[in-house]
Amino acid sequence: MTVSRRHFVSALGLGGAGLLSPPLLGGRGHEARLATWLSSAEGPAGLIRLDSNENPNGPGARAFEAIKAMFGEANRYPDDPERALVAAIAKEHGVAEQNVLLGCGSSEILRMCVEAYVNTAQHLVTAGPTFELPANFAKTMGRAVVTVPVDAKLRLDLGAMGDKAGGAGLVFFCNPNNPTATVHGDAAVREFVARVRRDSPATVILMDEAYHEYVEDPSYRTAIPLALADANVIVSRTFSKVFGMAGLRAGYAIAHKDTVRRLQGWRLGSGISVLALAAATASVGDREHIALEQKRNREAKAFTRAFFEKAGYDAGVSDANFLMVDIKRDMRPVREACRKEGIAVGRPFPPLTTHLRISIGTMEEMQRATEVLRRVLA
Ligand SMILES: Cc1ncc(COP(=O)(O)O)c(C=O)c1O
Repeated sequence: MTVSRRHFVSALGLGGAGLLSPPLLGGRGHEARLATWLSSAEGPAGLIRLDSNENPNGPGARAFEAIKAMFGEANRYPDDPERALVAAIAKEHGVAEQNVLLGCGSSEILRMCVEAYVNTAQHLVTAGPTFELPANFAKTMGRAVVTVPVDAKLRLDLGAMGDKAGGAGLVFFCNPNNPTATVHGDAAVREFVARVRRDSPATVILMDEAYHEYVEDPSYRTAIPLALADANVIVSRTFSKVFGMAGLRAGYAIAHKDTVRRLQGWRLGSGISVLALAAATASVGDREHIALEQKRNREAKAFTRAFFEKAGYDAGVSDANFLMVDIKRDMRPVREACRKEGIAVGRPFPPLTTHLRISIGTMEEMQRATEVLRRVLA
């Protein structure tokens, strides 16, 4: 079961749990605004948000109950809830607690890796396009970034990335890759890791598995076993995607215990709120909720893909909760036109300027979005 935003507001604000009284919400006016905002299926100003690869259905019921139960601890620093989440993640993956590193979203894990491993002598290797955060952090720090274009099938060019890895501090390997939605199978990942190990033993490989739960390609496996065996491989995961908690901010890494110990030094202490910790702890092993969200994504994605294919566009493969569609024209005016009609789609991802990244919303949202796209693309 997924908690609707309407349910959440009524339970919190109107006495379902009696936790948030009107004065706590800042008075009736504020509460009314909050209720109107949250009960809308579309977010503020009626916009359907298909631009950030979020889960439109939000967290599961267990997360909601855990947040309510934890609210009374909101005055405490999150030491015990952090320990509880580490234990739950370790149990879920069958690893030791020393193999788990928490982050304020997986973004914090990505930042920690850049800070720890990219320096004046050791560059970052990343793809173009891929999730930009590591490259942006490295550039902000004044570090060298080598960007390897994706191949003609929009897959990471692992051969070329391997060529550039010599002497690198960090390789960012996003699998599945955002924004191209492509994925590499276990054999290709192992071969890549072995090659980098051989050619550049000090280089660390960060495997970003933010979209892990959405993968359907049978050749794919998580790189967690590689990370446990090799101190230079790190896997990052997030609660922002299939778990529906992008606004709560919780993520983690699984790595060798020596690596976790080293990275701990770069953490923002107490960087995850007790509410996010409670929700994540309750959700990490919630198979039923994960299966429901996978099914919803599969169905709405199939509907959206069918629309594009019928209209004559290649929607590519997608092992994620978004599609990267070649619309055969500059995507920017199309994006603007969609926005004017209440549909937010992904930003431009140069050099793929004719590709539109569209996140998968609810079936109802995708029906509305495809109606708009039908007009805009006509
Ligand atoms: C590939 C990838 N990694 C990491 C993130 C960061 O997510 P968060 O910080 O919410 O865990 C995103 C967000 O969209 C992403 O697409």
